[in-house]
Amino acid sequence: MAPGSEDDMNALRVLVADKQAAVDRQSNEVRALKAAKADEVAVNKAVNLLKDLKLELQSISKELVSKATGGETSVLSRETFRKTLSNTLERRLFYIPSFKIYGGVAGLYDYGPPGCAIKANVLAIWRQHFVLEENMLEVDCPCVTPEMVLKASGHVEKFTDLMVKDEKTGACYRADHLLKDFVKESLEKDPLMPPDKKEELKHVLAMLDEFTAEQLGAKLKKYGIKSPETKNSLSDPYPFNLMFSTSIGPTGLLQGYLRPETAQGIFVNFRDLYYYNGSKLPFAAAQIGQAFRNEIAPRQGLLRVREFTLAEIEHFVNPDDKSHPKFSTVANLEFYLYPREEQMTLKQPVKTQIGHAVAKGIVNNETLGYFIARTYLFLARLGIDKERLRFRQHLQNEMAHYAADCWDAEIECSYGWIECVGLADRSAYDLKAHTDMSKTDLVAHETFSEPKDVAQLLVVPNKKELGMFFKKSAKMVQEALEVMEEVEALKMKAELESEGMASLHLCTTGQRVTITREMVSISKEIETLHGRTFTPSVIEPSFGVGRIIYCLFEHCFYTRSSNAGDDQLNVFRFPASVAPIKCTVFPLVQNVKLEVTAKEISSALTREGVANKIDITGTSIGKRYARTDEIGVPFAITVDFDEKTVTVRERDTKAQIRVPVEEVAKVVNDVADARRTWIEVQSHYPGVMSKDSNQ
Ligand code: ATP
Ligand code: GLY
Repeated sequence: MAPGSEDDMNALRVLVADKQAAVDRQSNEVRALKAAKADEVAVNKAVNLLKDLKLELQSISKELVSKATGGETSVLSRETFRKTLSNTLERRLFYIPSFKIYGGVAGLYDYGPPGCAIKANVLAIWRQHFVLEENMLEVDCPCVTPEMVLKASGHVEKFTDLMVKDEKTGACYRADHLLKDFVKESLEKDPLMPPDKKEELKHVLAMLDEFTAEQLGAKLKKYGIKSPETKNSLSDPYPFNLMFSTSIGPTGLLQGYLRPETAQGIFVNFRDLYYYNGSKLPFAAAQIGQAFRNEIAPRQGLLRVREFTLAEIEHFVNPDDKSHPKFSTVANLEFYLYPREEQMTLKQPVKTQIGHAVAKGIVNNETLGYFIARTYLFLARLGIDKERLRFRQHLQNEMAHYAADCWDAEIECSYGWIECVGLADRSAYDLKAHTDMSKTDLVAHETFSEPKDVAQLLVVPNKKELGMFFKKSAKMVQEALEVMEEVEALKMKAELESEGMASLHLCTTGQRVTITREMVSISKEIETLHGRTFTPSVIEPSFGVGRIIYCLFEHCFYTRSSNAGDDQLNVFRFPASVAPIKCTVFPLVQNVKLEVTAKEISSALTREGVANKIDITGTSIGKRYARTDEIGVPFAITVDFDEKTVTVRERDTKAQIRVPVEEVAKVVNDVADARRTWIEVQSHYPGVMSKDSNQ
């Protein structure tokens, strides 16, 4: 069975939804018959029909999973699929649990050789797709960050998850995860539960990120959720800060943290980067680097870890003009969007043109829409299945109060839908926060094309009068007058004019003082402005590189039987640009002459810049192909006794062509670099029928 085409998968999705509806209807029918104490024959008939419908539903669902996961000959369940995949990933050293010989540490993983190569390729594509194509300014900042920076950003106070503890053993759990697991399990275990109960549980799932500590605590109590291992009672949920703390320098006096994201390094450098960019907006800065989060309960393998690579972009833009000059280049792209409204009403995401979503105000502005579309193209370019990728808008409470709009790129894998990229319009929050804490203006300047006449509020305190009256407190009163909001100042002006005095609240002491007409002059005057200074807004796409790579492993992995039919062989269908090695070179059998030619071809490939590996072991050619299919090598060159030509085999079709020795390195380089397609090359060179298994 070939991996599912988009149409196939959609048809299957519709079938699953229809069958689920039929199962629901029949369940209601059974329940009604039982409630009405109908005769046994009628009840049994209805129950048998329900059983048949459920079996049909199970079978189509399995087919859908199998198509989505690329199952070739066997129908793999999610669990079996994941087991086969992780076994392959660990056995072939894509990743290794860190410090394995000491028992490992939860949430820490190493990338082994193929994993490292894939990560390097993914990052190279990211740099090409974003940094180079969008002219971004790349920076590389330290992981160790002084407390002041993370206080300003709000991480010291608010970078928390809600935790519960087993009241007897002290084991820690994420409160929202326990609730989510409970709900999912209940829905799976009891598909016949009454529809209102089902709706309630689905609603809890949809609202999970919205709950406060109190609401989460109430839900845990309502459903009687206990400690998963011991079934002991749980504490109330309380916030746990996820940052790893450290001290900088030997005195221990300078508190620091390992950065939980790379973004802050960009914000604190804004002034220099703005200057570097010729003091012009918009511009974007980018950073790739390690981030650290002391996750309460790392789980789902590589998806929730305690140290991971982030690739982040901060695009600085005029808050009054969030249009994007290149938006028209992506406006017609269509992919799955899952807006807030659809989630709240439990609808499914639909394919939507990004241009339409921006025009309708579903996505807040062009720049955010542009980055959503560019992220879609990036993920598709890596080999992520477009049918299992959606952009989900944050619910209102899920978003920080200052954010204008947030969307997550979510990828479906055997663990469900996983957030892999966060895209947020964070308004001017970060730059303002660092301006306040550092007392350095992180602002931009705009010169108007034509001078503008603007009514300006002028509040001029009379220092002498204030000094005489308020003595030592005069400065405080003066500052309170100067920072009044326009509404407050105009109200005071009116009171001073009518009553001769007005009351002023001093924020610093909480006191109220009386201001007289002599103490301040408040007026509105027309001023001609030639420009303005403002704090830019920032639009932030934040890529979790490890999560993307894991999902890519799942989307590219499939099994097929060997030609002899006696074995299941694993294959990763990575695009050549992502594959850890682009080409292997095999002498057909162990023979000095063949080895010399193989080595010459390998050197030619290296000169062309094609990552390659030569395998001169005496193993059968079929086994050597299988070994390299299993790490996703797209092409194999085999040298046999024909002195003029060699064969080139393509991984997924297993098709072979004969290419002259002197041309082969260039041909492979061209296909690996997507300058020519395999189909094109195949039509230029004679094909070969293979004899051995898996050839
Ligand atoms: P989650 O809700 O899953 O904890 P988050 O909303 O905290 O994620 P962000 O702060 O938006 O995540 O981080 C940006 C990206 O970093 C995420 O989209 C994700 O891909 C990645 N990421 C976050 N936490 C982890 C982690 N513990 N392990 C691996 N990747 C992570
Ligand atoms: N391509 C070499 C072989 O299949 O024998």
